[in-house]
Amino acid sequence: MVYLRYQKVSDAERFYEILNNPNFEFFEVKVGSVEEEREWLMKNSEKRKKNQEYNYSIIYDDMVIGACGVVIDLRRPHIGEIGYFLDEQYWGMGLTTDAVKKLEKIAFESLKLVRLEIRMEPENIASVMVAEKCGYNREGVIKKAYFRDEKYRDCLLYSKVR
Ligand SMILES: CC(C)(COP(=O)(O)OP(=O)(O)OC[C@H]1O[C@@H](n2cnc3c(N)ncnc32)[C@H](O)[C@@H]1OP(=O)(O)O)[C@@H](O)C(=O)NCCC(=O)NCCS
Repeated sequence: MVYLRYQKVSDAERFYEILNNPNFEFFEVKVGSVEEEREWLMKNSEKRKKNQEYNYSIIYDDMVIGACGVVIDLRRPHIGEIGYFLDEQYWGMGLTTDAVKKLEKIAFESLKLVRLEIRMEPENIASVMVAEKCGYNREGVIKKAYFRDEKYRDCLLYSKVR
């Protein structure tokens, strides 16, 4: 189905295109320009060296169609938080679910993380479905965890441990 590889600086244009979708209602990351995205991507290798963040491009049919990654908790380095987004053209095909399963394997087996978390706003049904289809357990609601569009918003916490 999909495969994951480390993100390249040359993925910037695709990510800029994908992320500037007004239908990414619940996604907090907004990119101002392709150049800004390139600068962000350039920091990836340093973040891996420091064991802070591991970000991957999602490849399908030889094309970059999205991204996923794991951010390590600074104070508790056995914990990682998974994030993801996909080009709207490919939504509803199970591709993010497939990507998250592959990312989880990397996170548990190579990065040796012990606990993985996924957080999302409760209204982000597609994201809730991804977490549930990947077998994550719903641990509860974190009140006012996000600040988006001038409002504090609750988020759901999902996790899996090994
Ligand atoms: C969240 C996101 C990555 C999901 O990607 P995707 O590839 O479509 O996910 P999948 O196809 O693997 O699974 C989504 C599931 O949700 C279901 N779904 C989506 N919207 C739904 C809705 N409104 N009601 C019920 N089910 C819904 C899909 O049918 C699918 O389930 P199925 O396989 O049983 O049919 C994508 O919607 C996205 O990029 N959103 C914007 C960025 C974002 O919000 N990221 C997450 C931040 S926490």
